[in-house]
Amino acid sequence: MEEKQTTIHALFAQLKQRGFSGEAKENSLTFIKLMSYYKCAIMEVETKFNVLNEAFSIRHDRNPISSVKTRLKTPQSIMEKIERNGWALSIETVEKNLNDIAGVRVCCSFIEDVYMLADALLSQDDVTLIQKKDYIQSPKANGYRSLHLIISIPIFLANEKREMKVEIQLRTIAMDFWASLEHQMRYKKDTDFTKEMAQELLVCADTSADLDRRMSKLRKLIQDEN
Ligand code: GTP
Ligand code: MG
Repeated sequence: MEEKQTTIHALFAQLKQRGFSGEAKENSLTFIKLMSYYKCAIMEVETKFNVLNEAFSIRHDRNPISSVKTRLKTPQSIMEKIERNGWALSIETVEKNLNDIAGVRVCCSFIEDVYMLADALLSQDDVTLIQKKDYIQSPKANGYRSLHLIISIPIFLANEKREMKVEIQLRTIAMDFWASLEHQMRYKKDTDFTKEMAQELLVCADTSADLDRRMSKLRKLIQDEN
C-alpha cells in the first residue's frame, strides 16, 4: 500500500509540471480516496449480481451468470484518457468526465439472461441508470456485441453516503469469446489490420451470434418439454 501511494504521489508531482491544477500532495490523497470509493462501488455491484445469480438459481435450477469480472481503471490510463480528450487537468474532471473508472463485466449463459439481469438490476431502488448502449440490438460495425450500462449507486461510508458511477458490460460467453480475441488481435501493433482481417472478424462475430441464437432455441425446447 505504501509503495502504491508513493507511486501516485510521484505521478501527481509529474502531472503538476504538465499543468494539472492544485497541489500534488493534496491531489494524490484525494485521488487515493476516490479510487477506494470506486472499489467499494465495484464490490456493491458485484454482490448485487451474485445475489441475483443465487436467487435465480434457486427458482430456476440453473445459473444465469457464468462469470463476473471487475477492474479498476489504472491511474495512468485515467490520465491518458483525460489528456486524449483535452479535458481540464484536475481532480474534478476524474469524477465528472470518466464513466468507466469502475468496471464490471458479467458473462451470461444465454442472451435472455443478459436482459433479465439488466432489468433486475435496474429495477432495484438504489440503482440509477445514467446511460444504456445496446450493442446486441445494434452491433458495432466490427461485429462487437454487448449491453453496456452506466449506473450510479450509493456507497455508505463511516459518515456519509456517496453516489458512484459504475460501467457494466453484460454479454454472453460467445460474445465474450469474440471480444477477448478481437481485443488481443487489435492491440498487436506489429501487423497492420487489413480489410480482409476485419471482414473475417465480422464473419466470426456473426457466427458466434448464430450460436447464441441456436443455444437459446435449444434451451427453450428443453424447457418446454419439462
Ligand atoms: P471508451 O472507449 O472507454 O471511452 O468508451 P466509449 O465511450 O466509446 O464507450 P463504449 O460503451 O462504446 O465502449 C466501452 C468499452 O466497451 C470499451 O472500453 C471496451 O471494453 C468495450 N468495447 C467497445 N467496443 C469494443 C470493440 O469493438 N471490441 C472490444 N473487444 N471491446 C469493445
Ligand atoms: Mg472504457
